[in-house]
Amino acid sequence: MTDPGNPSTDAVPPPGCPAHPGAVRLGGLEYQQSPSQLYRALRREHGPVAPVLLDGDIPAWLVLGYSELSYVTSHDELFARDSRRWNQWPNIPPDWPLLPFVGYQPSVLFTEGEEHQRRAGVITEALEGVDQFELARECQEIADALIAAFAGSGHAELMSGYAHALPARAVVQMCGMPSSGTDTQQLVDDLRISLDAAEGDDPVAAYGRVGARLAQLVKEKRERPGPDVTSRMLLHPAGLTDEEVVQDLISVIAAAQQPTGNWIGNTLRLLLTDERFALNVSGGRLSVGEALNEVLWLDTPTQNFVGRWAVRDTQLGGRRIRAGDCVVLGLAAANTDPQIWPESHVGAENSAHLSFSNGEHRCPYPAPLLADVMARTAVETLLERLPDLVLAVEPEELTWRPSIWMRGLTALPAEFTPVVQ
Ligand code: HEM
Repeated sequence: MTDPGNPSTDAVPPPGCPAHPGAVRLGGLEYQQSPSQLYRALRREHGPVAPVLLDGDIPAWLVLGYSELSYVTSHDELFARDSRRWNQWPNIPPDWPLLPFVGYQPSVLFTEGEEHQRRAGVITEALEGVDQFELARECQEIADALIAAFAGSGHAELMSGYAHALPARAVVQMCGMPSSGTDTQQLVDDLRISLDAAEGDDPVAAYGRVGARLAQLVKEKRERPGPDVTSRMLLHPAGLTDEEVVQDLISVIAAAQQPTGNWIGNTLRLLLTDERFALNVSGGRLSVGEALNEVLWLDTPTQNFVGRWAVRDTQLGGRRIRAGDCVVLGLAAANTDPQIWPESHVGAENSAHLSFSNGEHRCPYPAPLLADVMARTAVETLLERLPDLVLAVEPEELTWRPSIWMRGLTALPAEFTPVVQ
């Protein structure tokens, strides 16, 4: 088995790899279980910018340094978002697994310059219209409904039954659909399948249904606007077309759902496994807010993000980057960069982590606040309703999903005294 602390073993491609001598394959289940060891080893071996190989041995750069990552994300003129400038397209097969994230789409995610400001400005203002107290109240109602479905049984699998379900329903509701009902449930299921397909799922068909449902929502809101994100996007003076609003709604909903669900899951894991926090459930020292923040520093959902593409030949962290090279944002690695933690005490009470990224394409300003309302309400409501909640397995039996991009548990089995409704 590969030693995750030593990427110079079988993680290294055969000698003579034409793209990046010494490049490290980012796959491998053992890395996905303990990514912090991989980042440490990569940093030791390669410095702040490491040559890596994505699926299919496609070369890219992984930015591990906090200051290098801040530089990349704040210099759009050098490291831009439109993936069509990638110099590797001739080597990408049509069924490449990262295509859904990297393939160009006409959404806010891939626009640049003034067009990005227009599209991101509409999203920002539409999200600013969300009342945070109202959102907390809605999340509490969704939490209560989800908890009621398992409270009587005394056990639950919290990832699918709670952590992912709550933000999915909350975001759909924020966009103007009811938080429950078969129509909403179908959209929530299709979003999950298109972002995170399981064996036997058809992600392409699911993505098609998501687009069709949101196109219908846009049509309904054009006719009868309401106090929701979709209507605010449609009524914005920037005058987005219906197609643009559908594309950007998909981006908003998809960008919100998975990271927020995993933020909730990773925080629940911390609270249920770490005695500094476990104490708190029954009135101890550290709060839910501190656990949420610690997760963003040390166990962030958005570990790595693809990415940016070099506009022209340039230098970064002592590396020569060529025009069209792909640069992967190593958000989790940057958060634990020893350059910002010289005392090797990693983690802080402030929010200077890069988990929401940085610069023009960062998670748009109101979104982290809304995610915080959802995650905090989800965790607090669960602990209030089920105060003797404990893990139903040993902490070391918990496993992470096999992804270097998104850090989330495969399952979080918990038990508690059954609650009679
Ligand atoms: C209400 C919940 C959320 C919403 C509505 C939301 C929305 C978005 C949108 C629209 C973008 C695209 C920005 C652009 O390209 O201009 C984005 C990017 C991003 N979001 Fe969020 N997000 C949410 C929650 C989160 C959470 C919980 C995390 C992580 C903890 C996160 C991390 C990111 C990251 C890393 C990016 C990529 C930024 C980049 O390219 O530099 N988001 N988000």
